[in-house]
Amino acid sequence: MNNVTPAALSSAGAPGSRMDHANVPAWRWHAGVDQEVEKIAIRDLNFHYGAVRALKGINLSLKDRRVTAIIGPSGCGKSTLIRVLNRIFDLYPDHHATGEVMIDGENILSPAIDVRRLRARIGMTFQKPNPLPLSIFENVAFGIRLHHRLSKAEMSHRVEVALCRAALWDEVKDILRQSGSRLSGGQQQRLCIARAIALEPEILLFDEPCSALDPISTLKIENLLDELRKDYCIVIVTHNMEQAARVSDYVAFMYLGEIVEFGTAEKIFVHPDNRHTQDYVTGRFG
Ligand SMILES: Nc1ncnc2c1ncn2[C@@H]1O[C@H](COP(=O)(O)OP(=O)(O)O)[C@@H](O)[C@H]1O
Ligand SMILES: [Mg+2]
Repeated sequence: MNNVTPAALSSAGAPGSRMDHANVPAWRWHAGVDQEVEKIAIRDLNFHYGAVRALKGINLSLKDRRVTAIIGPSGCGKSTLIRVLNRIFDLYPDHHATGEVMIDGENILSPAIDVRRLRARIGMTFQKPNPLPLSIFENVAFGIRLHHRLSKAEMSHRVEVALCRAALWDEVKDILRQSGSRLSGGQQQRLCIARAIALEPEILLFDEPCSALDPISTLKIENLLDELRKDYCIVIVTHNMEQAARVSDYVAFMYLGEIVEFGTAEKIFVHPDNRHTQDYVTGRFG
């Protein structure tokens, strides 16, 4: 596992560069420097898979136009937590969630919620990119068609905008009819991000988006996250502490289904309050 070392923290501003006054980490610029708006309020959230209690009394405030990283050892509940946010668990047979997940003042755990609409508001990508067995163009157009009737020209424009925002357009503009699955892993992940963005969501959830990618593709995704931060509430699960330090404004450290510590990235990585957090971010356990 990649853990933060003092050297890694000093280069957290940009991969390969040292932190100094001209090149401070992203979190120095973002967290707390301008007015913050709460986008998601999680209150007393418990989640069970059958008899397994995977989340225990989670309370968390996720801000709009900020990146929040969820970190913690395997099996601590990171994926479960972000999956609750778009009700993917509805697909599992024997689940049970209690508590509240308020998004813009509405409890999305309520049975009355229109899940299809919710998922259009919340884009998600997974550890392993999962393009549809369709062309690059259709991968992006498919979801749009489920929600909107657009003319051919409007659809082409919408697909182009999404691919541009996902920093993929220049690489695929001449091969839009080619199968999405023929792209490299890094390109596939950006295609999945384009697919999510195309629905004009408000929230983006990334579950270990770079774990299957090479360093150059990882850098592209990290740069993209920095760009997308301006417009979305972003939650990223990552195993990579350097990545969490580079991309996030806030960090939640989870252990055994609980949030042990939450704070700005600087707080969590430089002077955490909790011994477990300190041990985890410095690589002493996990
Ligand atoms: N579909 C499932 N059915 C039953 N248990 C699950 C399922 N998915 C995850 N779990 C359990 O829930 C806990 C949290 O898992 P997960 O959220 O995947 O952790 P993480 O993403 O931090 O590795 C683990 O104990 C795991 O075994
Ligand atoms: Mg996971």
